[in-house]
Amino acid sequence: ELNDEIEKVVSSLKLNYEQLKHIMHCLEEEMNAGLSSETHKQATVKMFPSFVRHIPDGTERGQVLALDLGGTNFRVLSIKLRRNSHIELTSKIFLVPQSVMIGDGKRLFRHLAECLAEFMEKEHLSQSGICYPLGFTFSFPCKQESLASARLTTWTKGFSCAGVINEDVVKLLQDAIDEKGINVKCAALVNDTIGTLMACAYKEPATSIGLILGTGTNACYIEDLDKVGTWNGDHDEPKQVIINMEWGAFGDNGCLNHIRTKYDEEVDLSSINPGQQTFEKMISGMYMGEIVRLIILDLLQRELLFLGHRDTYGDYKTPIYNRGGFYTKFVSTVETDEGIKFSNTRRVLEDIGIRNPTFDDCVIVQHICRQVSKRAARLAGAGLAVLINRMGKPTVTIGVDGSLYRYHPRFKRNMERSMEGLVNKDLKFKFALSDDGSGKGAALVACVAAHNAPEVL
Ligand code: BG6
Ligand code: GLC
Repeated sequence: ELNDEIEKVVSSLKLNYEQLKHIMHCLEEEMNAGLSSETHKQATVKMFPSFVRHIPDGTERGQVLALDLGGTNFRVLSIKLRRNSHIELTSKIFLVPQSVMIGDGKRLFRHLAECLAEFMEKEHLSQSGICYPLGFTFSFPCKQESLASARLTTWTKGFSCAGVINEDVVKLLQDAIDEKGINVKCAALVNDTIGTLMACAYKEPATSIGLILGTGTNACYIEDLDKVGTWNGDHDEPKQVIINMEWGAFGDNGCLNHIRTKYDEEVDLSSINPGQQTFEKMISGMYMGEIVRLIILDLLQRELLFLGHRDTYGDYKTPIYNRGGFYTKFVSTVETDEGIKFSNTRRVLEDIGIRNPTFDDCVIVQHICRQVSKRAARLAGAGLAVLINRMGKPTVTIGVDGSLYRYHPRFKRNMERSMEGLVNKDLKFKFALSDDGSGKGAALVACVAAHNAPEVL
């Protein structure tokens, strides 16, 4: 039995069936606005055509490089596409220092080129005089003009480099590569959702949605060309194109305000992009822990939680008082506890400076974590249900990647549960976790775009 005050907080996070149905309806309207040439400019859900028109068919061959920027890790990859859909992949994670993430754009791209050069040296790819095609997974909203030309519309997540918005990101990268004197040609830029869809479709051709649940959240899906009013590419068969939705921005026009809590508002105000990425801020890993922290802090300040710890009240060195002090991975850890021992929850609470939590403290904290992550899962599920119903394919595989999906113990289950009630009864769906990230998908796209990738030795 929860105290009424706590119950009030918890129920403000609950979403019932009618609310989810309404959200689905709004999302579909925003999608149509994003796809129409008349309304696209003002639309919040941007629905960018990716210029990727085919899923891979297994005939892709050659040696390709890839960069993967925008998730937790920046990766450089070498991908050998052999016969019989056989892929060999080597990769290395490089650090992108915080100062580079929010520094000058030129410096960011110089850093990417330097990491690429170092990687090629190590992999013995730099002496041969061969020019390698490169696929660039760049996980930010871009208005593409072709496969190898894409203008950044705005930074999201933790990035904010000067001088990149409205610029062609492929050109910025290529200039840095050329300056570094390495023999690489960027043949395609893809969003991580597209890279994930392509990588999964390589194994499982029924894949028609790409989903990211990680630092940020977003989805892409295969749309009919005749529904894409903003399309200005060719009309060859197949009459379809993969759309990068940028669904993280859903709600930026206020249409989700009725379900936002004061904690959501606080998360937004203290972020580096207030007013932007409303849907993302209610779902993804970059913000989930912070929502939980703000709820815990509120209850603590109202003396509804950690009563045995009045000595820590107002001790601002305690992580719970500081932005980012409750990591999203703590939400996962707390939710792995089953039963009444709460050994993981206790460990987490110790980490945030609450040394001897009571049983009630643990119950409440776990309950909050569950509600916050369940709300996120149900929102993502509602988004996916829109896509599945809209495509109307009898069976759809959703290619998915991201730390939230991988490590949260209930996210997938909660998402599936909500979707069961929202997806049309005759349609079936399943999730397929991407094995080695979206770089593989970017490489497949680049390989096709480059026409003549060097043979695999
Ligand atoms: C990785 C993909 O596996 O997942 C990236 O290769 C993607 O392209 C990332 O951005 C998303 O997850 P996270 O948790 O790292 O943001
Ligand atoms: C953010 C980015 C989007 C990306 C998503 C997942 O929402 O804007 O491009 O796909 O994060 O990484």
